[in-house]
Amino acid sequence: MSNLVVVGTQWGDEGKGKIVDLLARAADVVVRFQGGSNAGHTVVNDRDSHVFHLVPSGILYRGTLCIIGNGVVVDPGALIEEMDRLQAKGVKIGKNFLISDRAHVILPYHKAIEKAAEQSKGSRRIGTTGRGIGPTYADKMTRIGIRMGDLLNPALFRRKLEENLIEINVFLERLYQLQGFQLEKVFQQYMGYAERLKDYVADTSAVLNKAIERGRKVLFEGAQGTHLDVDFGTYPYVTSSSAAAGGACTGTGVGPTKINKVMGVVKAYTTRVGSGPFPTEMPDAVGARFQERGKEFGATTGRPRRCGWFDGVLLRHAARVNGLSSLAVTKLDVLDGCQELKICTGYRHAGKLYRDMPSDIQVLEECEPVYEALPGWKMETTGITSYKALPPQAKRYLARIEELAACPMDIISTGSKRNQTIVVRHPMASAHRKSARPRRVR
Ligand code: GDP
Ligand code: IMO
Ligand code: MG
Repeated sequence: MSNLVVVGTQWGDEGKGKIVDLLARAADVVVRFQGGSNAGHTVVNDRDSHVFHLVPSGILYRGTLCIIGNGVVVDPGALIEEMDRLQAKGVKIGKNFLISDRAHVILPYHKAIEKAAEQSKGSRRIGTTGRGIGPTYADKMTRIGIRMGDLLNPALFRRKLEENLIEINVFLERLYQLQGFQLEKVFQQYMGYAERLKDYVADTSAVLNKAIERGRKVLFEGAQGTHLDVDFGTYPYVTSSSAAAGGACTGTGVGPTKINKVMGVVKAYTTRVGSGPFPTEMPDAVGARFQERGKEFGATTGRPRRCGWFDGVLLRHAARVNGLSSLAVTKLDVLDGCQELKICTGYRHAGKLYRDMPSDIQVLEECEPVYEALPGWKMETTGITSYKALPPQAKRYLARIEELAACPMDIISTGSKRNQTIVVRHPMASAHRKSARPRRVR
């Protein structure tokens, strides 16, 4: 059994898409388990660059089954747009793609509620992506959500939508002075989406478990990152799903006994999009350098990403709550040319030293990071594919990251392309080549 979960360890945008695409070569199935079109996973291959929001980052390999799991919230309009864009580039989407019948559906009122709520929060806004994620998960939990399977039953969908709109329209009109939504209009729009998507909707937990029974290799693709997880993130400045590894089970209908490894993707420095505490943020020349060299602009909203030094407290926390079995360190090349590098190993607040991630948002907002300094390197590491060829200072920096996480480093990424990678150990080792016949890779 070689089933692997890939999660982000920081605040998202660690390079999960690149790593999942790379590993998907060895996988039979790639499944997204949470989040929605708030995600933006960029994959660069020899021919092209793709940004995936909902479609799993394994779709570029022919014959790899890609699944949107039940833990994902699906905006059908956004999904169809993404599928059209990919198909126009020659990517095949057919029998290789499934959507869980239990995945919840994002409706126009979710986006309207989110926008209004964010506006009314003023300076305390979360800085969401505006994709309707939070309100859709809220409806799931309050048991008024609409699921992909419901779209295939027009009478049921109509009844649920009608019931929801009675309350939601009052809410929008009275609380936010906004216009409500018309039942018929939304119903017809979503019936159109259902017509386009119906052949992909399935009981994907059954499909996944059957695949595992047959010895197929499954890769669980996380979106966002551990510190955007609704339980373990910097609450309330988080997303509304379980982005940590536990979400891979609840978000797919595969039990924990069927998963044996968890890889944490960690950027060689730290970034964050949206509001919320960021102890190692460097809003100065250092941050600007990372932003420029790392092209740190959001793939979903285009917002500049906040940048800062590497945070070992975040990593240790991620290693614990995800049970990481290995790391994939990305964007090492972005650090090339820095004279000195800093790694945060603790937070100091009100005379107390925190080595473990505090849950108190005020501590996170006010704390002083405790740094250790390491020497940088002048040499260019872009595209290096062997560990041996790295400068000694880079090896030392990586060794410190490994030590802080207390788990081994399987992959080091030295550029956005597939081949700009050092594979120290393949985490799906026995499955490195799942078949003798090499696949055609786009
Ligand atoms: P994700 O959301 O975790 O999948 O990450 P994003 O795709 O949003 O952001 C990562 C960005 O860094 C993308 O533009 C990638 O193409 C790029 N990237 C990934 N790995 C590397 C790397 O090792 N070096 C450089 N320079 N860029 C990388
Ligand atoms: P990937 O998968 C970075 C952030 C938003 C906001 C907070 C809540 O590409 O790593 P939401 O719209 O989810 O309710 O917003 O979470 N956020 C992300 N930041 N990468 C992402 O995804 C993100 N998805 C959500 O900026 O701060
Ligand atoms: Mg991203």
